[in-house]
Amino acid sequence: MKIAVVEGDGIGKEVIPAAIEVLDVLALPVEKVPVELGYAKWEKTGSAITDDDLAVLKECDCILFGAITTPSDPTYKSVLLTIRKELDMYANIRPIKPINGIVGVTGRSDFNLVIVRENTEGMYSGIEELHEDVAYTKRVITRKGSARIADYACKLAKSRQHRLEIAHKSNVLKSDRLFLDVCRQTASSYHIDHHDTLVDSMAYNLIVHPNRYDVVVTTNLFGDILSDMAAALVGGLGLVPSANIGKGHAFFEPVHGSAPDIAGKGIANPIAAILSLKMMLEWYELNHQAKLVQDAIEFAINQNIVTPDLGGISTTREVGNTIAERVKQL
Ligand code: NAI
Ligand code: MG
Repeated sequence: MKIAVVEGDGIGKEVIPAAIEVLDVLALPVEKVPVELGYAKWEKTGSAITDDDLAVLKECDCILFGAITTPSDPTYKSVLLTIRKELDMYANIRPIKPINGIVGVTGRSDFNLVIVRENTEGMYSGIEELHEDVAYTKRVITRKGSARIADYACKLAKSRQHRLEIAHKSNVLKSDRLFLDVCRQTASSYHIDHHDTLVDSMAYNLIVHPNRYDVVVTTNLFGDILSDMAAALVGGLGLVPSANIGKGHAFFEPVHGSAPDIAGKGIANPIAAILSLKMMLEWYELNHQAKLVQDAIEFAINQNIVTPDLGGISTTREVGNTIAERVKQL
C-alpha cells in the first residue's frame, strides 16, 4: 500500500494528522508519502501543484487529502481540479448515512443514500472566458463521460437497493438531455429501478424525504451543491467523507474545506477525515479494519468526546486520540 498524504491548508493540517493516527494503529504495511500542495505553497512558490507533485501522486495507489484553500484569483489553478483531471478521477462518491448517536437538522435518521457526482466535466470543464462585461463557462456533457458515471452508479445500486435517482435539469439545459438519456439507457441495461427528478425539486426532496433515495447520480455542479446540502442531514460538514474514484487511482477527502474561520484553534471535527480513511480501507477491501474504524467513531460519539460543531468541548486531537485508542482495543 502506497498512500500519498496531502494535508493541504487550514484545518487540513489538523484533521489529516488525526486520520493518520488512526491509520497507524491499524499497523498495516503502508508506505506514506507526504506531499505539500495548496494555497500556502502557492504563496511561497507561485505554484500550488507542480508536475513533480503530480508524478509523485501518480506513483501512489491513492491519496488521503485534507482540504485546500482556493482563492478566487483567476491566475490560481485549482489543485483539486488539476488532480481530478490528471488522474482522471471521474466518480465522486459521497455517502450520506446517519452516524449512530447524531441527528442532523431534520431530526431523522431513517435514510442511507449515496450521491454519485460526475467529476470531470459539466460546469467544471474549465472552458471559460472572462471579459470586462461578460463571462462564459461552457458546460460540457459527453456521452462517454455520462456513460461511465452512469455505469459506476448502476453497479453501486446493484450492490445496494437497486434504485437509481437521476438528478438533472433537462427541461432547461440541452446538455442534461444527453446526460439523462444516457443514464436511463444504462440503468435499463442493468435492470435497475430508475427514476429522475429536476435538480431543484431534488434539493427539496432530499431534505424532506431522504428515505426515498438509494443512489443519486448527477452532474458535477449539481452534485457539488446537493452533497454539501445533504451533509446537513447527518449533522454537518465535519462528518461527511468522500471518495474520488478513477481507473487506476483513488482520492479520499472530507467534503469540507479548509475552514479558515476555525483553522489553528484545534477544534475542527476530524470525523469526516477519519471516515474518508475508512472509505480508503474499503477501497483496499480491508473491510474488517473499516468496521473497526466505524465502531471506534461511534464509541467516541457515545462517550460525548466530540468537537464543538457537535456540541462537545473536545479538541481535534482528543477526538482523534480516542478513536485511535479504541481501534487498538477492538
Ligand atoms: P468550509 O467547508 O471550509 O467551511 C464551511 C463552514 O463549516 C465553516 O463555518 C467551517 O468552520 C465549518 N466546518 C467545515 N469543516 C469543519 C470541521 N471539520 N469541523 C468543524 N467545522 C467545520 O467551506 P468554506 O468556508 O466555503 O471554504 C473555505 C475554503 O475551503 C475556501 O478557500 C474553499 O475554496 C475551500 N474549500 C476546499 C475544499 C476542498 O479542499 N475539498 C472543499 C470546499 C471548500
Ligand atoms: Mg464543494
